[in-house]
Amino acid sequence: MVDTIEHDLLIVGSGLAGLRAAIQAAKTSSNIKIAVISKLQVMRSHSVSAEGGTAAVLFPEEGDSIESHVYDTVKGSDFLGDQDVIEKLVNEMPSEIYQLEHWGMPWSRREDGRIGQRNFGGYSYPRATFAQDKVGFYEMQTLYDTCQKFDNIEFYNEWFTTSIIHDGQKFCGITAIKLSSGTFYTIKGKALIIATGGAGRLYSYSTYSLSSTPEGLDMAYRAGMALKDMEFVQFHPTGILPSGILITEGARGEGGYLLNKDGDRFMKKYAPSKLELASRDVVSRAMMTEINEGRGFKHETGVDCLKLDLRHLGNELIIKKLPAIREISLKFSGIDPAKEPIDVRPVSHYMMGGIHTNIDGATEIQGIWAAGEAACNSVHGANRLGANSTAECLVWGKITGDLAAKYVLEAKSPQFPLHLVSAEEKRIYDGIFRGSGSVNPYEVRQDLTDMMNEKAYVFRNENDLIDGLKKLRELKQKTWKHVDDKAKEYNTNFSNVMELDSMFRVAEVILVGAIARKESRGAHARTDYPDRDDKNFLHHTLVYYDTKEPIIKKHPVTITKYKPVERKY
Ligand code: FUM
Repeated sequence: MVDTIEHDLLIVGSGLAGLRAAIQAAKTSSNIKIAVISKLQVMRSHSVSAEGGTAAVLFPEEGDSIESHVYDTVKGSDFLGDQDVIEKLVNEMPSEIYQLEHWGMPWSRREDGRIGQRNFGGYSYPRATFAQDKVGFYEMQTLYDTCQKFDNIEFYNEWFTTSIIHDGQKFCGITAIKLSSGTFYTIKGKALIIATGGAGRLYSYSTYSLSSTPEGLDMAYRAGMALKDMEFVQFHPTGILPSGILITEGARGEGGYLLNKDGDRFMKKYAPSKLELASRDVVSRAMMTEINEGRGFKHETGVDCLKLDLRHLGNELIIKKLPAIREISLKFSGIDPAKEPIDVRPVSHYMMGGIHTNIDGATEIQGIWAAGEAACNSVHGANRLGANSTAECLVWGKITGDLAAKYVLEAKSPQFPLHLVSAEEKRIYDGIFRGSGSVNPYEVRQDLTDMMNEKAYVFRNENDLIDGLKKLRELKQKTWKHVDDKAKEYNTNFSNVMELDSMFRVAEVILVGAIARKESRGAHARTDYPDRDDKNFLHHTLVYYDTKEPIIKKHPVTITKYKPVERKY
């Protein structure tokens, strides 16, 4: 008999979207029991790593406008963003900034005392609202503190969710392992918000926390929900070598620039008006072109890179506005950015794709919403603008928290399909935990993520993608599905192998989507199809799980005002 717990609303994931959703649900009704379930301790969620800013129009009287933020985002998305969703993000954001301020967020200030904003890539106005370069950390702390004010939010930290249970139409609950005891549980609920973040650790070179693996996406996929636009993976231009840790775009926003080995500020060739502050896909492609054409540097580890020069900003500004960047450079590469340029290279940073939702974050199953990076409500299209992701977490955390709470107040508990719990128990304990095998799963994980880095990186082509898919399927056939450590308590070997299990399915979705999209749009740059092809590919990609092969479908893009035009920076 599996141990069972019951709440009204389950929120899986404790990053910005999850916490914002919990607060909103608790505000909507003090009569519902809310559980926030996370495989981590809350303040270890990847959201704490967000650095540079949260986008919002705060000063229309000084020249910014809602329309400008909307158009910058539409253009940034390479016209694949749903324009009604983008309008919603932009309209809701200013009040989220002030809401956080009222909850205690220590936004940086301008000389005149107003909230500080800086330049970010792809924007026509400096609207990345910042708190030094530790925006995610402060936002998380503010939201987590605020959660403590509500008696009806309960945290289940270090619980690894394994599956979503529904009756074919309606949400019924989840299954999860309490990591401290190794006990397998059913957690029943009337509504679910999936806020498990992105899965950039599918790539070996990444700004993401090691925990950013795709169980949340995979659970939804296995439960019959589509993953949308997964071929669009963002490579942030400035991951520091050798680790790949993020050097915020805020460093370029404050005036930093990129240099090649000839000392040339090469961005003037690729984006003459925006230079280093073109959108990320443009800057990353420019960097890889410089490297591929022999104008890069060789880092001591043998990896090709370029230089990010901040020396002219001076020590005082760096300490005041970019203290985390200084600390990261000193600690992780031994470089003082006030004295030497930093070695950087494009690294996996964000997934524009995710669980297919509508404009309100509702998925295809009644009672299930998704918010934040785990969701794809199509706000970012083919390329996200920096600072729009923490913004998205706040806006759709609030929206889904409110809608899910209202739904819970009306919903009846459905008949619980117990057989699905037994099937899940068998899948993970017989299929993985007690599986026998000779191949080291950690080596398989490394091979898988190296393959993604090699075959589905900034520039892609059919041969590489098909090779990558073949390699993935060969790796999947190896006998890696086993757990050597048989301990019950805190068995990280078990959770790591469970993560790997989900990585295979979700990496496959990225590759099949990338193969099918025979055009270049936003972050998906095909050297064999270098142009955007609106006639054949101005649509979203939906991928559904099938035991044999993923099933690919198309989904229309919502265009309200802005017809696609050529995109130049
Ligand atoms: O560069 C950065 O600070 C990243 C911000 C973002 O991805 O939104």
